[in-house]
Amino acid sequence: MSLEHLFSPMPIGTITLSNRIIMAPLTRSRAGQPGDVPTTLNAEYYAQRASAGLIVAEATQISQQGQGYAWTPGIYTDDQEKGWKKVVDAVHTRGGKIALQLWHVGRISHHLLQASAQAPVAPSAIRAENSVSFVILPDGTPSNQPCDTPRALASAEISGLIDDYVRAAKRSLRAGFDLVEIHAANGYLLDQFLSPNSNQRIDQYGGSQENRARLLLEIVDEIAQAIGANRIGIRLSPGGVFNDMNHPQSETMTLYLAKELAQRGVAYLHIAEPDWAGGQTLSAEFRRDLRLAFPGRLIYCGGYTAEKAEAVIAAGIADAIAFGRLFLANPDLPERFRRNAPLNTPDQDTFYGGGEKGYTDYPSL
Ligand SMILES: Cc1cc2nc3c(=O)[nH]c(=O)nc-3n(C[C@H](O)[C@H](O)[C@H](O)COP(=O)(O)O)c2cc1C
Repeated sequence: MSLEHLFSPMPIGTITLSNRIIMAPLTRSRAGQPGDVPTTLNAEYYAQRASAGLIVAEATQISQQGQGYAWTPGIYTDDQEKGWKKVVDAVHTRGGKIALQLWHVGRISHHLLQASAQAPVAPSAIRAENSVSFVILPDGTPSNQPCDTPRALASAEISGLIDDYVRAAKRSLRAGFDLVEIHAANGYLLDQFLSPNSNQRIDQYGGSQENRARLLLEIVDEIAQAIGANRIGIRLSPGGVFNDMNHPQSETMTLYLAKELAQRGVAYLHIAEPDWAGGQTLSAEFRRDLRLAFPGRLIYCGGYTAEKAEAVIAAGIADAIAFGRLFLANPDLPERFRRNAPLNTPDQDTFYGGGEKGYTDYPSL
């Protein structure tokens, strides 16, 4: 099968990608300690994958409060910014493009990760059931722990939260990232605001659809002021059930956001499909409606093969496709697609934490 659409260049925001094979954001929990600082090993991992049209680097906390798992990288200290610069330089040297995914986990956290062992924050004080945070216990043992009951953010705290996003976006640009991606998917803070099962606020950030979407749109607007809307991508996960999400109207919310984001001229919208993680499959009708609502660059992710990706791009439903587990295990994924070569199998045991094994040692062709 010809993969001509997948291998055609694509302008996106301020840059042009050499192909439409995107590396999905993948948490790998291998930041340098102490300080959650990206390392030369992280730089090597991303540089190995620089043939992607665009790498969306792993979810990266914008503040200590935004952290929900030990060993994930941050973008709120000078050392973290310097660490990321090494990563970005390594990718650019290989001719790649790279975005950083800006992350606040909200209630998917634990007091052991928070300053002064405080409760994590969320739209409302509602605990995420059957959800875990990864912490280092006081005796030094790494452990998955049930998430704590969060405290509701006060209305007066919202502007400081938005500032954390803006500062992180500015640091990302200083580190050399081509774009930033706002993580509003997978049950983390901004998704918690979108969904009525986690957002029961009575101020202007809760209640109606418009109110629940307000925080995300304010963050987009403030980051756009700082670095330009054409450097911002947004990731959403309509229908997602991970991290105790239950949002029956999430498709309607996504279509509303898509129209608002299109008006703002953002670089792209990235849809994390729900079915790989236990959710329903997105309907063809929804995909059609989303295409109409968002004429900008639309990326889908979740369970794609090269053939399926080529078909949805050729049909005009998507502009590009992101690959997660396949890129994790195949540093030269585009070349393998091009040659229709066999693919390495991802090893789940080494997804999170550790060193080179299962990280930089997957062979290229
Ligand atoms: C190990 C691992 C880490 C992930 N980390 C992130 C992340 O940091 N941010 C995010 O938005 N999604 C994350 N995801 C979801 C992926 O981006 C992607 O949506 C998912 O793997 C489905 O795509 P795939 O079938 O191509 O793997 C992660 C998935 C895996 C397997």
